[in-house]
Amino acid sequence: MSMLFTPIKLRKKEIKNRLSKTASGETCASKDGFITDDYVNWYKKFARGGLGLIHSGAVYTRESGKIVPFQPGLDNDDKIPGFRKTAEEVHKYDCLFLAQLNHPGRHLVPGPGLIPGKDIKDIEVVAPSPVRSRATMIMPRELTTAEIEEIIQSFTDAGCRAEEAGLDGVEIHGAHGFLISSFISMRTNKRTDKFGGSLENRLRVFREIVEGIRKKTDDGFIITAKLNWTDGPFPKGITTRQLVDMVQMINNMDVDAIEISSGSNEWLSFERGKLPIRYMLRYGMTSHLPLSIKLSFALSKYFLEAVFRYYEGFNMEGVQAIKKIAKKPVICTGGFKTGEVMEGILQRGEGDIFGLARQLICDPELPNKLRENRANDVVKCSYCNKCVAFVGSKPTECYENEDFRKFSPPSDPGIK
Ligand SMILES: Cc1cc2nc3c(=O)[nH]c(=O)nc-3n(C[C@H](O)[C@H](O)[C@H](O)COP(=O)(O)O)c2cc1C
Repeated sequence: MSMLFTPIKLRKKEIKNRLSKTASGETCASKDGFITDDYVNWYKKFARGGLGLIHSGAVYTRESGKIVPFQPGLDNDDKIPGFRKTAEEVHKYDCLFLAQLNHPGRHLVPGPGLIPGKDIKDIEVVAPSPVRSRATMIMPRELTTAEIEEIIQSFTDAGCRAEEAGLDGVEIHGAHGFLISSFISMRTNKRTDKFGGSLENRLRVFREIVEGIRKKTDDGFIITAKLNWTDGPFPKGITTRQLVDMVQMINNMDVDAIEISSGSNEWLSFERGKLPIRYMLRYGMTSHLPLSIKLSFALSKYFLEAVFRYYEGFNMEGVQAIKKIAKKPVICTGGFKTGEVMEGILQRGEGDIFGLARQLICDPELPNKLRENRANDVVKCSYCNKCVAFVGSKPTECYENEDFRKFSPPSDPGIK
């Protein structure tokens, strides 16, 4: 019997199947971070396609934690109505909706239009410690204890707003080298205070966010965690051994599912597949980098494509390391596209839920097609990564065969 369409419980709620949309930035909020009708319709399309669970793309919890233009925020109560409308539409299809909360930390690339009305040179890049980014060559400023506490509070407040908007929960983004992930990794966290040193200290920001949200939300509110199993072959980077220790600690926190991912903008990995460098350098976050860095990136195209070869289930090494010890469901993310591969993983007890991004962007009807035994009708993603290249400048769509010049982000002020 197929397990892919059997339900699974997350805290007090049931997900109708094992298929979820993992967080993928939408680039269709208003320029000041309000939810627009395009954003609502984007999620309606995925919910209608038969998913059991949706994680939103990264949402900022304070203005200085915004990573790209047209990203939504939960930094203020006036953003609640738009999220409420999205949750209401998604729920009509018996699908849960969680907001992914994030702060980019040292991966921020200040660019025009990021924070309307703010000059680029006034946008600061902050991190646990001043460790220069190998990708952007930006040296971040070390956060003070008071600033770290403010950020933790902003995540708690955003979690409460998500609950008020009727969302089923939130995901804490602790992967991809962003702020929380950079606290966890010894490579980027050199602090000697209570936020650095031991793994327990490096996980403190994550734990205090979980505890803060738990204290202030209903007992049924779901919290998931997205974590890296590797951030690249760097000395002192995250390893599967550390991930095991981390999951053992998280087992004692009130977290409802653990999603495993990898990489950062210094060591790609989650974008496994082809690299549309021309578009990435012209439109993406990298478009704001100095020419010399762009050139070295362009020259590495074939090397990067060879190293970051696409294959289905490319984060399973991390999942396998922790599945037996994790006390909560494990969400497998990374390259999933076929019913057979996902079914095999479920049957062997190697994972519980699948988080898909690019294959769903290519064909949001995938869950319905698999459920109705119409796998041959699924439009297969080629992992061309144009959807990734346009994050922050064009709405997230499958651009493989589309003329991207036809698409522009919304100009409406959003739902207030
Ligand atoms: C267009 C796009 C935007 C993304 N934005 C986010 C994001 O906001 N937060 C996040 O954790 N991951 C983000 N990701 C990474 C995905 O969550 C996922 O880890 C990665 O794409 C691998 O899954 P896939 O092979 O199914 O696409 C994004 C991916 C894509 C394609």
